[in-house]
Amino acid sequence: MNFTKDSFGPNFSWGVSTAAYQIEGAWNEDGKGPSVWDVFSNTKGKTHKGQNGNISCDFYHRYEHDLSIMQGLGIRNYRFSLSWSRIIPNGIGEVNTKGIDFYNRVIDTCLNYGIEPWITLYHWDLPHELEKKGGWTNREVIDWFANFVQVCVSHFGGRVKHWMVLNEPLVFTGAGYFLGIHAPGKKGLKNFFAAAHHAALCQAEGGRIVRSMLSDGHIGTTFSCSSIHPFSPSKNDEMAAKRVDVLLNRLFVEPLAGLGYPVHDLKLLQRFEEVVKDGDEQKLAFDMDFIGIQNYTREIVASSRLTPLIWAKVIEANKRKVETTEMGWEVYPESMYEMLLKFSKYKNFKEILVTENGAAFPDILENGVIRDVKRKDFLTQKIQQVLRAKQSGVNVTGYFVWSFTDNFEWAEGYRPRFGLVHVDFETQQRTIKDSGRWFSGFIRDDS
Ligand code: FCB
Repeated sequence: MNFTKDSFGPNFSWGVSTAAYQIEGAWNEDGKGPSVWDVFSNTKGKTHKGQNGNISCDFYHRYEHDLSIMQGLGIRNYRFSLSWSRIIPNGIGEVNTKGIDFYNRVIDTCLNYGIEPWITLYHWDLPHELEKKGGWTNREVIDWFANFVQVCVSHFGGRVKHWMVLNEPLVFTGAGYFLGIHAPGKKGLKNFFAAAHHAALCQAEGGRIVRSMLSDGHIGTTFSCSSIHPFSPSKNDEMAAKRVDVLLNRLFVEPLAGLGYPVHDLKLLQRFEEVVKDGDEQKLAFDMDFIGIQNYTREIVASSRLTPLIWAKVIEANKRKVETTEMGWEVYPESMYEMLLKFSKYKNFKEILVTENGAAFPDILENGVIRDVKRKDFLTQKIQQVLRAKQSGVNVTGYFVWSFTDNFEWAEGYRPRFGLVHVDFETQQRTIKDSGRWFSGFIRDDS
């Protein structure tokens, strides 16, 4: 490795990321209301082996221990999300003091340990009571969300500077309201376009609310993204790749950047007309202080007459004889560089951060040690691509590993392990993996 953390300059934020539903457990304790993920994962047949996040890493009770491990590793930035239904059990209305107390304790513990909290307001766990009213497909979600954001900022804004509005809107609307493979398990284009438009409006509105309440806040939102490469140099495959790029990479960032939905490059998006109201185009735009990109892999795309509307298909990595992670995602470090360059072209955001990056590999715990060389190599190569982008002039200012501990990987359950710290889900024992020790050494001030 021919670079150190100093190659990134003194103000670069190195950190780790988690999400409430994936780690907290305590799903029905201390007044918490159910979220769509509580309901979905406790419904038969929805997740790998019927697993759920009812207990997960039990972070709700073990946060202090976990944060002390984080501190011991010298990690100075922690991105985590707030569970909406722990704070407002019905989504709207009464605030649950015990939920507020919990996040106060987490924030205070971080600050005592010299760890800067970075809050994601929404990481996919909509209150179930709101889903009963249509959830993200109901335009009223804009008011429900605005109220939630105000409650959070009014309680935590004095101590938390860094805020992210949404986590990967394409994934929770696409997987949750179109494909039905994530909570709440709805399907179809009608649901998708309604949910996507309302999420895009909330993304900007959330930013406006945080800024109006915190003049010195550092405000952003996050996007999933992957390089999209054509299967062959043929015109058809190139056009197919371009259409998939619109859907996977451009759909949510462009309206935020004031460019509107990229309808001209994907006719299917004309269906937004069903839900867009007069004046919405302005409301979709907001000049975030930063955007967070979350990059794991790339996609290879071929044209396909069998896939209506998008006329393209993704050629799975396992059919291409390439190295993959346990998620079946191709290991392709350059995707990080390509995405940083691509997203830096949107001029109205001052900074870009990598708010998630990491890999699941099968870990073997032997005599208290996990020699996860593949994860360490994966992270090293990705970080090198971040440096390459920085040296090409991209204002990339941070990098967060997904994830701090192993956790509940949504519909995939507990099988994929992304952590720098191993969790034995039977005993709740934590074991720092070799990759965790390596990351710790890499980011330490004295390294
Ligand atoms: C991202 C999600 C995160 C985690 C990783 C592996 O899409 O934001 O919660 O599941 O993928």
